[in-house]
Amino acid sequence: MAAAGKVTTATLKERKAGGERIAALTAYDHLFATLLDQAGVDVILVGDSVATVMQGRDTTVPVTMDQMVYHCELVSRGCSRALVVGDLPFMSYQVSISDALRNAGRLLKEGHVEAVKLEGGQDFAPTVEKLVSAGIPVMGHVGLTPQSINQFGTYKTRGTEKDEQDRLVEDALALEQAGAFAIVLEKVPAELGKRMAESTSVPIIGIGSGPHTDGQILVTPDMLGMFTRFKPRFVRRYRELANDIGGAIRDYCQDVRDRAFPSQDESY
Ligand code: KIV
Repeated sequence: MAAAGKVTTATLKERKAGGERIAALTAYDHLFATLLDQAGVDVILVGDSVATVMQGRDTTVPVTMDQMVYHCELVSRGCSRALVVGDLPFMSYQVSISDALRNAGRLLKEGHVEAVKLEGGQDFAPTVEKLVSAGIPVMGHVGLTPQSINQFGTYKTRGTEKDEQDRLVEDALALEQAGAFAIVLEKVPAELGKRMAESTSVPIIGIGSGPHTDGQILVTPDMLGMFTRFKPRFVRRYRELANDIGGAIRDYCQDVRDRAFPSQDESY
């Protein structure tokens, strides 16, 4: 039984039913996981964005299963309240349902997350159904799906045409039907975000999908202003930590060179 205040997949569905918004962020290590958990984030995603924001890669494609297991274990050990979700990396679930089961199982058994996320719509409904029936909660992810960057060729807004909008609604309904407990909706017009949230009974967690979705998720180093290589329009920077960190490091270097650090009080 979950501790009082612990966020579970059931909590998220209740939030949607009660019209209460869900606040989600990403984490990749124990230090940040603890800070996010203590600050009251509802869902902490160990995103495959670890590849771009932490590993310095150009896309999320290269991150491996072993690396995701490692990051999931660090994060889940830092959380007691938030629901921790681990991303299934590219090619860990696309080849076969048995791959998906084995790899999702690893994220739960070795990474100690409580749920997994995978990208894709109707085509992946049978995979979601199988995972859910094996006791693995699944969060879907539709709209812009960064693992398919080589297929899309660009990170532009999805669902701008009627055909694609209808298909995305069908995708969400197929995932819901298959048993997904929530769906991330990335970079679609706000009106489509609204339509998707109104069409489903599971929470739609938006990123770059406007204000009407049931919750929001951002990549933590983006919203803290730590990752500055580029800034999508949908990111709000709540701090400019890259500047603060750079300033602190420069001050430290100066103090060391000026023999101003350490002081008597900082010495034994
Ligand atoms: O990997 C990630 O950080 C994600 C979010 C952008 C939702 O999938």
